[in-house]
Amino acid sequence: GSRPAMPGLAKVVGHRGARARAPENTLAGLRKAAELGATWVEFDVMLTADGVPVLMHDDTLDRTTNGQGSTAAITLAELSKLDAGGYFSAAFANERVPTFKEAIDILIDLHLAANVEIKPVPGHERQTAHAVAQILADSWPAIGPDLLISSFSKTALTEARATAPALAYGLLVEEVPANWASLMQELGCTSLHAWHEKTAPEEVASIAAEGVPVLLYTVNDPSCASAFLKAGAASIITDVPDLILPAVDHR
Ligand code: G3P
Ligand code: MG
Repeated sequence: GSRPAMPGLAKVVGHRGARARAPENTLAGLRKAAELGATWVEFDVMLTADGVPVLMHDDTLDRTTNGQGSTAAITLAELSKLDAGGYFSAAFANERVPTFKEAIDILIDLHLAANVEIKPVPGHERQTAHAVAQILADSWPAIGPDLLISSFSKTALTEARATAPALAYGLLVEEVPANWASLMQELGCTSLHAWHEKTAPEEVASIAAEGVPVLLYTVNDPSCASAFLKAGAASIITDVPDLILPAVDHR
């Protein structure tokens, strides 16, 4: 069957916003990425206890907020009281954990393209994917910024695609599996997102030669980024877009 066209990927994608420059997965982080010149951002989405998609990486609140305990156990109302910026620096104190809908509004406002990573708490794959895809199907503008959904979870990718078949999907892996091509085909994915520490530039070159866009995460060293881009990587997902953008060859 026909697959949705790949979005126009940029060579630099801000990781969790611009993770080294602003608290990850916050609205301030999305704004910071844009301010630093990124045209794409990646961020993680999971569900609150009451089923609301929010931007959050960890299963627990402890690392990135002043709260404690399981992310899946807190309601949006309680989560909204937490500080998700103070751990990063005083300048970002009182930054909140944004809802996915709030993030979408900012992305549209800033014309910032998004790699939405569905990051379900284990056991919540289906609900998380359905909620994320439903919001995108309902509220992402047809003529809006580019959009690419990814996940490590095959269950999440399958459910999201069933909910929003017209969107573009990427398969997230640590190490590229030998059966990457059939796996992508089975899951309806058009891009492959691999961990740079487990992926050699030569491997990127051979996959790119098949016409498959490869994105590497999380590359914070400009010469490493250059090597992957030279090998044919489509994008570098980075905590430091300001350092990686100059490494991109603007011919
Ligand atoms: O989407 C790329 C990357 O973000 C995947 O790893 O743990 O940073 O979400 P993680
Ligand atoms: Mg991520």
